[in-house]
Amino acid sequence: MSFRLDSVVPWGRNAEEYRLMFCPGDRELSGRIADFGGGPSSFNAEFNSHFSRAGSTVVSFDPLYSFSAEKIRQRIEEVRPIVMKQTRQNRDKYIWKNIPDPDALERQRLSAMEMFLSDFEKGRSEGRYIPHSLPERIPFEDNAFDLGLSSHFLLMYTSLGYDFHIRSVEEMLRVCREVRIFPIVDLSGEGDPMISDVIEYFKKKYTVHIMDTEYEFQKGGKKLLIIDHAPAERV
Ligand SMILES: C[S@@+](CC[C@H](N)C(=O)[O-])C[C@H]1O[C@@H](n2cnc3c(N)ncnc32)[C@H](O)[C@@H]1O
Repeated sequence: MSFRLDSVVPWGRNAEEYRLMFCPGDRELSGRIADFGGGPSSFNAEFNSHFSRAGSTVVSFDPLYSFSAEKIRQRIEEVRPIVMKQTRQNRDKYIWKNIPDPDALERQRLSAMEMFLSDFEKGRSEGRYIPHSLPERIPFEDNAFDLGLSSHFLLMYTSLGYDFHIRSVEEMLRVCREVRIFPIVDLSGEGDPMISDVIEYFKKKYTVHIMDTEYEFQKGGKKLLIIDHAPAERV
């Protein structure tokens, strides 16, 4: 399926935000991590240059990665004033604590995306950025990754629908032993029957946990969904 650059709003978070959202422990950080809908986040770039350990890897997947760094940079510049205008208009939907105000948010996002852009062409040639659209087949064998992540993509875009989500998460669970999705609210920070239905579907087949995190920027959006192949152990 063709993917149009003008249909996407590239806007990326940094590795510290990923740490707060996904709460990885030593076991997860030492493993093979897949970031789905990774977009222009600097998680992969920062992990690769600062945090990787022997045997650990991050591979990011996104349809955006079929474009050049220059084209992605142009698109970021196009959407930047629009995103910032919307953020200021909806200021009361966010918690301005770790990020004190919209100007600081803009600086943090642009700095993360700059790290991504500087790393992207090299990382793509090393196989760390792979053009891929969920729910299409992921070009890896079963259980290739220990952990699969989705930040601000799955569950959030409820208009993609129930079937899209079931097929996407099932395909992620084919290649990942565990999947973590953050947040569990829609774009306006609300719950949605579609989100509850998707979670109920996976509860019937896998071990599912929902936990509070320290990351709360969108009001109401601090919960992390964990779907695990392993039998339930946590309490
Ligand atoms: C809001 S961004 C989140 C980026 C990053 N995860 C973060 O939190 O900073 C959502 C991303 O989902 C990607 N996306 C859109 N459709 C997708 C699909 N079908 N499969 C995988 N990723 C998709 C977009 O290209 C975009 O980069």
